Amino acid sequence: MSPAVKIYRSGKLICATEGVAGESLYERIIASDIYLEAPCGGKGKCGKCLVQLTPDGDKVRACQTILSGDINVYLPDEMQMKIAGSDSRAGTISYKGPLGIAVDIGTTTVVAHLTDIPTCTRLATASGVNAQRTYGADVISRIQYCAENGHETLTRLIREQLSDLILQTCKTSGANPKDIHYISIAGNTIMQHLAADLSPVGMGVAPFRPTTLFGDERPAGPDFPIAEDAVIYYAPCVYSYVGGDITAGMLASDLENIPGPCVYIDIGTNGELVLKVGDKYYCCATAAGPAFEGAEIAKGMAAIQGAISHVKWVADELDLTVLGNTEPAGLCGSGLMDALAVLVSTGAVDETGRLLDAEEVPHPISKYLGKREGKTVFWLSKEHDVYMIPGDVRKLQLAKAAIAGGLQTLLYAAGITVKDVNSFLLAGGFGSFLDQVSAATIGLFPKDFLPFAKTMGNTAGEGAAIALCTEKARQTLKNMMDNFEIVELSTSKVFNEQFIDQMMFEG
Ligand code: FES
Repeated sequence: MSPAVKIYRSGKLICATEGVAGESLYERIIASDIYLEAPCGGKGKCGKCLVQLTPDGDKVRACQTILSGDINVYLPDEMQMKIAGSDSRAGTISYKGPLGIAVDIGTTTVVAHLTDIPTCTRLATASGVNAQRTYGADVISRIQYCAENGHETLTRLIREQLSDLILQTCKTSGANPKDIHYISIAGNTIMQHLAADLSPVGMGVAPFRPTTLFGDERPAGPDFPIAEDAVIYYAPCVYSYVGGDITAGMLASDLENIPGPCVYIDIGTNGELVLKVGDKYYCCATAAGPAFEGAEIAKGMAAIQGAISHVKWVADELDLTVLGNTEPAGLCGSGLMDALAVLVSTGAVDETGRLLDAEEVPHPISKYLGKREGKTVFWLSKEHDVYMIPGDVRKLQLAKAAIAGGLQTLLYAAGITVKDVNSFLLAGGFGSFLDQVSAATIGLFPKDFLPFAKTMGNTAGEGAAIALCTEKARQTLKNMMDNFEIVELSTSKVFNEQFIDQMMFEG
């Protein structure tokens, strides 16, 4: 007999299904199209897929719970992910048309802007957590899923989500979906492959080749029932790990016209870096890992309600900012970076990255250092059991060394140094949210960049919108593609040396 599985959320039965003996609960939940936070994609590594088997029972990892008989499952309450740029206006808006949709497909979030093409005016915006997220927080987990199961499910999910978002923008603005003639998509190379119904599997194994680098137009067709007759433009990708989100972001930042050496950086699960010198763009991607997104961190979480988003050291006390003004439940990326900066600047983490014991630290921060299950921890809130462990410090240290080492390698390739750089642009949601002083304190980028560091916001979405409106912008993107030089880090001796150097903290 197949096990009967009843799934509850917020006290309500949301699904009754039949499982297959030997299947994990995680597999059953996602097969039922139910969202579950699962940053490692069911690999048992992140510890975030927690569910209860009785309403008040202990939490267990869904991906490590194997179905053997009938079971009830209680999911955590759904929390609203904080997404920049969610909707704007309501009511019927007058427009000339034709209309277009500019989309930023991020690994974490998807944002769609309904745009009046002749005037390039934004009419409405809709966004959501990427529907593929249950299959892993980062692109590597999603490629692995496709390698084992094919890419069709992930393609279906993103296409359904895009259709939903398009409908939402039309509803908000009173626009007719039939007036949508053009869709412009910017995402990393893997997200663009999945949206275009192409397998990303080749990008997961050497020689890491994409099927296409895009920069072209494709018909939407019946898989986009909302805008079946529209043409879809995909932003050009440089290679597997520097995609259309970066080229579109560079377009929106007007990188082309910035004089002098300029660094453009987008930090997410990967850190993508571009150094512009003259008319050349040196670029690389670093496998920073999902640490800056709070994944694979003991008390890490997405930037949602309950996440500590900022940490300051004020008058010998920790000062916490918690999203949603509620009790702290964990730390999101910006909070983690701030917390590490506090540890480094007070000497509680030494230059090698070791989290010291309270008695080793002659600083008032020592009152926040203690033990939990025999391990040294940094208590952000003992009352709410929110803390950092030495392994968290290590993961953040590796992530920052990968990005800082990547930057040094680009500078080396271009034959210049940190001192020659005179513009520094931080793109992406995380780049806009992080505290720049904390980022420089932990050595994510050189302190010399602080005076001219500029946050750019969601440049991928902006770039997609610009490309939507003019042929000239699409031509600029095309021209840019001739001037890229890819700096391969995995085989670079300079990167290996720099990575080790950049592991150190300066305090
Ligand atoms: S999804 Fe279960 S531990 Fe990561």
